[in-house]
Amino acid sequence: MNRKVTIVGSGNVGATAARSIADKELADVVLIDILEGIPQGKALDMYEACPIEGSDSRVLGTNDYADTAGSDIAVITAGLARKPGMSRDDLLTKNYEIVKSVTEQIVKHSPNCIIVPVTNPLDAMAQVVFRVSGFPRERVIGMAGVLDSARMRAFIAMELKVSVENTHAFVLGGHGDTMVPLPRYSTVAGIPITELLDQTTIDRIVDRTANGGAEIVRLLGTGSAYYAPGSAVVEMVDAILKDKKKILPCSVFLRGEYGISDLFVGVPVKLGARGAEQIVEITLTDQERAALHKSAAAVRELVAVIKV
Ligand code: NAI
Ligand code: 2OP
Repeated sequence: MNRKVTIVGSGNVGATAARSIADKELADVVLIDILEGIPQGKALDMYEACPIEGSDSRVLGTNDYADTAGSDIAVITAGLARKPGMSRDDLLTKNYEIVKSVTEQIVKHSPNCIIVPVTNPLDAMAQVVFRVSGFPRERVIGMAGVLDSARMRAFIAMELKVSVENTHAFVLGGHGDTMVPLPRYSTVAGIPITELLDQTTIDRIVDRTANGGAEIVRLLGTGSAYYAPGSAVVEMVDAILKDKKKILPCSVFLRGEYGISDLFVGVPVKLGARGAEQIVEITLTDQERAALHKSAAAVRELVAVIKV
């Protein structure tokens, strides 16, 4: 293949995304981790599935960034999960250090790539990648909104008993419980859900979406979601590699759009070969705009702790 995607972190999200990229034959995949043996073992296992899947993607596991050289896209899933006794700020600082060092290595070996940060807290980590890489903002695109919108779509489909393919949803803001699901812009076969569902049901869907990550954590008992996050990463990778010009909610560095400056926040963007090629500004009501600003303020608090 002539396209190459590096996935940093061969844990649950990284491995799930790598497997899907290889299955879909989107690119060659390099899986890299600090753990020795895990990326190599998982990558070999994935490559051994390729003859069955009918894919000629090559999958390589490594601990050496030299193998990532010349990647078109680098996805960062490296990081720690919050452990008992660890504060939110402890996790923030630890993942800051990891994401900073990973970014330095990516930039050294793939100076022209597009970086898709996934590590949490997502918007703050995207800001770390942006500052450390020195890349133009078009080439640092955080993954969260695609996942949050997919969750909302799933909940709408469950409620109305319709195909998930008929659903569309937009969730903006930071990837946290202040995220902003937008019912007015969420549709089934083009019909806004505000015309199909009563307010109580919509409120329930909005609340479940905002707490979608926590719901999975509670059910799993250990670790967090990875199937839907993996699929969300791959939708972004697919849009970029195929230059689809697809409009998706992603975390990007705002410079005044939506009245927010110098901060990564989830908004609709056009994804294509050059990355986030356009930030799409949709009209918000006063209430929606206030919710977006509240969510941005929560991201700004995190960014202030790590001073990026
Ligand atoms: P995981 O624990 O399964 O995998 C993390 C991997 O990162 C491990 O294999 C670990 O060895 C590796 N790692 C740690 N330090 C590293 C370094 N310096 N260099 C390379 N690899 C390193 O975690 P999982 O479930 O894959 O989640 C990964 C991250 O993605 C977490 O921060 C999680 O909160 C976040 N996440 C974000 C989502 C989003 O919507 N933005 C959705 C789901 C997860
Ligand atoms: C999620 O939303 C943990 O951010 C992750 O599932």
